[in-house]
Amino acid sequence: MKVFVTGGSGHVGESVLRLISEAGHESRALSRDPELVKAHLTTIPGVYPVRGDITNISIDLLAALMAKSQAVVHLVGIIIEKGTPGFDAVHVEGARRMVEAAKQAGLKRFIHMSALGTRENAVARYHQTKFAAEQIVRESGLDWTIFRPSIIYGEKDEFLNTFAGIARIAPALPIIGPGKGKLQPIWVEDVARCFAKALELPETIGQIYETGGDQAYSVEEIMRLLVASMGKRRMFLHLPVSIARLQARLFNLLPGKPPFTEDQITMLGEDNVCDPGPLKSTFGVSLRPMEDYMRERFGKTPAISAKTAPTA
Ligand SMILES: NC(=O)c1ccc[n+]([C@@H]2O[C@H](COP(=O)([O-])OP(=O)(O)OC[C@H]3O[C@@H](n4cnc5c(N)ncnc54)[C@H](OP(=O)(O)O)[C@@H]3O)[C@@H](O)[C@H]2O)c1
Repeated sequence: MKVFVTGGSGHVGESVLRLISEAGHESRALSRDPELVKAHLTTIPGVYPVRGDITNISIDLLAALMAKSQAVVHLVGIIIEKGTPGFDAVHVEGARRMVEAAKQAGLKRFIHMSALGTRENAVARYHQTKFAAEQIVRESGLDWTIFRPSIIYGEKDEFLNTFAGIARIAPALPIIGPGKGKLQPIWVEDVARCFAKALELPETIGQIYETGGDQAYSVEEIMRLLVASMGKRRMFLHLPVSIARLQARLFNLLPGKPPFTEDQITMLGEDNVCDPGPLKSTFGVSLRPMEDYMRERFGKTPAISAKTAPTA
């Protein structure tokens, strides 16, 4: 099968392209900078980069690029708007263009990346615009499948890698607010396996899969596990939410990509959890425990649990 993939140069996209390739399919990978795809993906056979920005590419051109494919995997998304066309343009208008182009090209199968926490009355703009994009996909008449992951970790994630970088050099790790909101982290390879398998499972058409690991953790529990896996002892500095919001506003005024945004602070204030049962039974996957990944990626460590990991 030939698959048209967006977001293939990203953290999740690289794994998705590799697993699609391992399943014997070819991919056309859309990127604003195809050199990025080429640079990162030379080791993956059957990937052909094509240039395009989903916020301004014409639907005719997008349809022409999709023409020889049998399925679309639409992964594009942003978490920080600054310096990009913004959530509405990338998530909502981007989904609309992708759907229109797929229809024009005569494609039926459309596998769409959304996010856990996405819902009609979501508070965060990221979730609101991901929900609006879902609605476009659900009303498209295409053979869609939607995945809604909680936080995704892996070799190139920004979450664990950023905090591991801080833990290597600083005596304390910053946590916004009480850090008690629960997340259900899932390994990038597990997410990618489900995307690749969805191409071959017609029973996934018209379904939404909440996509999380087997266990929920608070941010503070994740930080404790991380530093323990590195064989370090660190303190945790809880930054009051009001101060963090002020900082986020300031970062937004300064040049460059902000380390965090107000929208992210809003999302951290909510639990982001799900039942991974339907995902596991449908796709026949067992999910990698995060502790196992952390031990292999960051260090040294013995069997630990979030409750027993040292504090300082
Ligand atoms: N990471 C997580 O924890 C997580 C959790 C839930 C859901 N998700 C969703 O999963 C998807 C992938 O996330 P990720 O972590 O892999 O993100 P990422 O590493 O930041 O990659 C984003 C991808 O989107 C592409 N992109 C961005 N704007 C574009 C545009 N205007 N036109 C074309 N391509 C564009 C980028 O391609 P180029 O730069 O090459 O153009 C890149 O390949 C996103 O939809 C995200 O919302 C992620």
